[in-house]
Amino acid sequence: MEFCDLHRQYLQYQSEIDTAIAGVIRDTSFINGPDIAALESELAAFCKAEHAVACSSGSDAISLALMALDVQPGDEVLCPAFTFIATGTMISIVGAVPVFVDAEPRTFNIDPEKLEAKIGPRTKGIIAVSLFGQCADFDAIRKVADKHGLWVLEDGAQSFGATYKGKYSCALTGIATTSFFPAKPLGCYGDGGAIFTDNAALAEKLRMLRNHGQEKRYHHKMIGVNARMDTLQAAILRVKLRHFQEEIPERRRVADAYTRALKGIVNTPEVPEYNTSVWAQYTIRVKERESLREHLRTKGIPTAVHYPMPLPSQEAFRSLQQGEDFPVSNRLAKTVMSLPMHPYLSAAEIGLITQSIKEYLHA
Ligand SMILES: Cc1ncc(COP(=O)(O)O)c(C=O)c1O
Repeated sequence: MEFCDLHRQYLQYQSEIDTAIAGVIRDTSFINGPDIAALESELAAFCKAEHAVACSSGSDAISLALMALDVQPGDEVLCPAFTFIATGTMISIVGAVPVFVDAEPRTFNIDPEKLEAKIGPRTKGIIAVSLFGQCADFDAIRKVADKHGLWVLEDGAQSFGATYKGKYSCALTGIATTSFFPAKPLGCYGDGGAIFTDNAALAEKLRMLRNHGQEKRYHHKMIGVNARMDTLQAAILRVKLRHFQEEIPERRRVADAYTRALKGIVNTPEVPEYNTSVWAQYTIRVKERESLREHLRTKGIPTAVHYPMPLPSQEAFRSLQQGEDFPVSNRLAKTVMSLPMHPYLSAAEIGLITQSIKEYLHA
């Protein structure tokens, strides 16, 4: 059994994907080929954002967005303590300081009630991650941000395809990012990412920033980087995007089956009524995590821990000395455990996973 079965997915769309790859190779349109612009308009149309800018990864999407927002060395940016490392390190990469905010216990997303205490004179904005496939509470976050004149950026690396109060992730804030890392709900066959915005000038700036600050060939208007998406990845993503709306309910089917079987036995994920999750991960909480993982491993069931250490405790951030007051994140890091998740998990596989968990817990 695979944790995220990309091979089964490839077999499903094999002829379309092979044709798309062959087309890029035949045309040798490896960099900035026509699939890039086509993908950008399809991504924007999917989530109903005005503009999508494809780029080289979800991490680069964040740093490009921060550059476009003119984040300067010494600026402070609030972000979750409980997330993937890139949310925080990309703030550091542009010279700014990540200021960590604890998670709220129900959704594991940044706690809007804990934002205000972390805002100071150097605070410029808030990055909220929509973790494990469900959006952070952006209305509550926006209220605090507006009061203090801060921008809000959604790190939607795990939530492209999710909705919040009927609107799509990545179109909820003035600027948002996502990742197309292969294991993401919408993944490519290497690294890839995108930035979304409703602001045409910001989109134009992002297009320059990702391509050496270039306005037209060999004319560089600003200091930029090389963070372009490969055309091959765009061609593959265009195929997968065509099928994405069919895959989301399949991910939900798997999540619902897990919840039906495991509710009351372990702590199952909670999705508030205003959210629909795209189930990037199905993450339970258990006290006896390591021994349960070992038991499942002996049955051929892979599991993962997202994430074993909150950002403030990571060595990379130790010098910031923000390690102490993150009780929810610290508790989550000790108990979270993700189960296999992909649209092709069969009822028999789900049965084996849930039965094995019950067997171990004598439930
Ligand atoms: C929340 C979050 N932010 C950022 C990233 C970075 O994306 P990438 O791996 O495409 O650089 C990831 C990827 O795992 C992520 O989960």
